[in-house]
Amino acid sequence: KFLRFRFPACAPCRVRAGEIRRLFYRFSGFSRESEKGENMANTVIIGSQWGDEGKGKIVDMLATDSDVIVRFQGGNNAGHTIEVNGERTILHTIPSGILHEEKLCLIGNGVVLDPYVFLKEVDSLKTKGVNMSATRLGISPKTHLILPYHCAIDLARESLKAGKKIGTTGRGIGPCYEDKAARIGIRANDLTDPDLLRTKIRAALTEKNILFTELYKTEPMDPDKVTDELLSIADRITPYLRDVSEALLDASKSGKSVLWEGAQGVHLDIDHGTYPFVTSSNTVAGAAAIGSGVGPNFIQRIVGVMKAYTTRVGAGPFPTELEDETGKFLQDNGHEFGATTGRPRRCGWLDAVVVRESALLCGLTDIAMTKIDVLRGIPKLKICVDYKYKGRRMEYPPQGENALADVTPIYEELPGFDEDISDCRTFSALPGNVQKYIKRVEQLTGVKVSIISVGPGRNQTIVL
Ligand code: GDP
Ligand code: IMO
Ligand code: MG
Repeated sequence: KFLRFRFPACAPCRVRAGEIRRLFYRFSGFSRESEKGENMANTVIIGSQWGDEGKGKIVDMLATDSDVIVRFQGGNNAGHTIEVNGERTILHTIPSGILHEEKLCLIGNGVVLDPYVFLKEVDSLKTKGVNMSATRLGISPKTHLILPYHCAIDLARESLKAGKKIGTTGRGIGPCYEDKAARIGIRANDLTDPDLLRTKIRAALTEKNILFTELYKTEPMDPDKVTDELLSIADRITPYLRDVSEALLDASKSGKSVLWEGAQGVHLDIDHGTYPFVTSSNTVAGAAAIGSGVGPNFIQRIVGVMKAYTTRVGAGPFPTELEDETGKFLQDNGHEFGATTGRPRRCGWLDAVVVRESALLCGLTDIAMTKIDVLRGIPKLKICVDYKYKGRRMEYPPQGENALADVTPIYEELPGFDEDISDCRTFSALPGNVQKYIKRVEQLTGVKVSIISVGPGRNQTIVL
């Protein structure tokens, strides 16, 4: 009990809690090993690039030391892969802590939830023997639901765009968030009130059916059919309704730790990303508080997951994209095909400017670097250290719409490596050139790398 004590900060002399803890271990005779039982800090995990950085793997791994895992934004546009003992699980809506039997997994108000996809995922996890009871899985009553008309609008709108497609996942994400902002959205709690649900769906479809018939030239949707279908599954969803803010507060009061699981990546953020080639939610760390209903001071650590190179799915500027043999090598070696849509991911060199901006926008305390093993065999590795834009050298991306399309990356070359690193479990076991690459990333981003992933498996990880 004593060792689990949270060390206080000393406000008058501005000594941080971490410092006090370090001094305690130095002079008390207790070894830091005995500290292992201490809870992990409340941690937000976000993608620091354009998604698919390996967030699922890192969340699953950190979930071991956390008690509650919460999704706070996005929907089933996400595809988060976990690999345990060679068995792969891809999650789209359910938090990546679900494979740890004793953990509580929550879906926050900031998420947009497709109830049909959710139930499919629940069933598929059940067949794998995972306990999917409402004691360990909860959905905020305020979570907005993605309904069939959202998906239909997403697809119809994209197909009308011809040469200007965003390349959405077609999962109805944008239209659902639009309804939320327009205050005509359907929330999970509405499933408990059939009359209200029917009235709201009728109202929403009054507008949308005009869009379907007049603009998209497709069939209108029958609001009663949509409602009846939804009501037929409502009984399977409503047991999961749970006040997420209260659950997080309770967890915190009893000394438990929380892990927030971001979806997409910072540069797909609706405000800070490469607008308009973005998703429709805020993907930055600050969204964790809003999207789960807690105060920002609840969060203690912010980990940006960063692939050792860069990938992007869908349209939009990508300064370090490689449309050559090396790009193909990264795609093949890294199995860079979308976990949600199966689309090939565009690949390129690591762009430190993009990650540097993510550090700024999210207040990253650490980086979890993934997929560095994929770079094996490339003789010379390049990192984009700055941009050239309108004749000027820039440390951060220019801010104009689509300005990223007009930058020229300034590269630095580092030596590659040929060794198989997938079994390395300590930093010192890594080849010198891999160590150099990691150290350089720390210098370029100003953030320490605290986790290094050397393969998709849960245990293929080095924790520093
Ligand atoms: P997420 O959306 O950020 O969770 O990432 P995805 O699951 O869409 O894509 C990451 C892919 O890389 C998945 O197939 C993971 O199994 C895999 N992966 C994660 N970390 C590593 C790693 O360190 N090395 C290799 N080779 N694969 C990894
Ligand atoms: P995870 O969580 C990569 C991209 C789409 C498209 C844009 C808008 O697995 O990292 P949307 O359907 O959200 O309206 O599409 O965002 N996108 C992702 N790219 N990983 C994701 O999620 C993504 N979710 C959306 O490809 O360019
Ligand atoms: Mg993904």
